[in-house]
Amino acid sequence: MSFYITTPIYYVNDVPHIGHAYTTIACDIINRFNKLNNKKTFFLTGTDEHGQKVEKAASASNKNTQDFVDEMSKNFRDLIPYLGCEINDFIRTTENRHKEAAQFLWNKLKENNQIYLSNYEGWYSIRDEAFYLENELTKVDGKFIAPSGSPVEMVKEESYFFKLSQWQEKLINFYEKNEDAILPKSRFNEVMSFIKGGLKDLSISRTTFKWGIEIPNKEKHVMYVWIDALCNYITALNYPNTNSDTFKRFWPGVHVVGKDILRFHAVYWPAFLMAADIKPPKRIFAHGWWTNEGQKISKSTGNIINPYDIIEKYGLDQIRYFLFREVPFGNDGDFSSDAIANRV
Ligand code: ME8
Ligand code: MG
Repeated sequence: MSFYITTPIYYVNDVPHIGHAYTTIACDIINRFNKLNNKKTFFLTGTDEHGQKVEKAASASNKNTQDFVDEMSKNFRDLIPYLGCEINDFIRTTENRHKEAAQFLWNKLKENNQIYLSNYEGWYSIRDEAFYLENELTKVDGKFIAPSGSPVEMVKEESYFFKLSQWQEKLINFYEKNEDAILPKSRFNEVMSFIKGGLKDLSISRTTFKWGIEIPNKEKHVMYVWIDALCNYITALNYPNTNSDTFKRFWPGVHVVGKDILRFHAVYWPAFLMAADIKPPKRIFAHGWWTNEGQKISKSTGNIINPYDIIEKYGLDQIRYFLFREVPFGNDGDFSSDAIANRV
């Protein structure tokens, strides 16, 4: 028996924090359990290096974008052994193997008549790298804000679209037959009601910046960072070589993600896969958020907890234990020195 588990690939716009460490350690724990059960395991993590958010961070640092992502990716890679985690591969979306896989996937979708050219006009959040409908936004001080609290801007550009609307019924059928494909159950229900609410075609290319994987045979367009990013999970298994031993043995796999990116994994990704004649993931587990004094910890807001600091202070096993004993997996948790001290 074999078992494939992945973390999200983390954006390299800033250094890793305790939230990233949390997902990586979660996967390591689940992976160790499967290994002890004599399964042949594959544990993947890595970095998400394209898109506007990363491009902006690179230019703010006055570095060449490739140099910047090389440097930032290394911070995520170096953290893994420090967390006591043992991975099988570390993927970077700027690697050639990934560009080739993502372009192959694109061509496959095109061949299967899943992509068309049109114009996108609507709201975009660079921080979330996500498109939003106006009815999802709230107005604060005269400005629209995404459900995540991120600012949005109006974009209007030529864009390729993926025919997501055609996958609504197929996704519902798939999830009705596979009720444990999304856990915890509350997240399953959330995804189902989102799908049942109606799916719109998805904009999957951008023309207003350059830092992305080029669309085959189409100048100006780069891939929307999420189609590029999600493809990493199969790139690492040798996609497009779906006949390779690795692909056959390990796909479909289990994705562990934070609840912030559930929709991308549980709606867009299975639709892309089915549209490209590939099986959807076996399971998506969405865990909760760690807050710091009640505030979501994130690179974008700057209230981060440095994993090196707290592991140095309390010890590795102590922190691994604290993170997974303090809060039931799936729930949110609030980080406090008192709580760690008490657990230790
Ligand atoms: O979303 N609490 O990357 P990202 C718990 N590149 N987990 C947290 C957390 C917190 N406060 N903050 C971050 C991206 N995480 C995309 C993913 S995957 C194909 C592309 C963890 O750097 C959690 O796993 O913003 C969350 O989903 C992930 O880091 C987001 O990392
Ligand atoms: Mg994020």
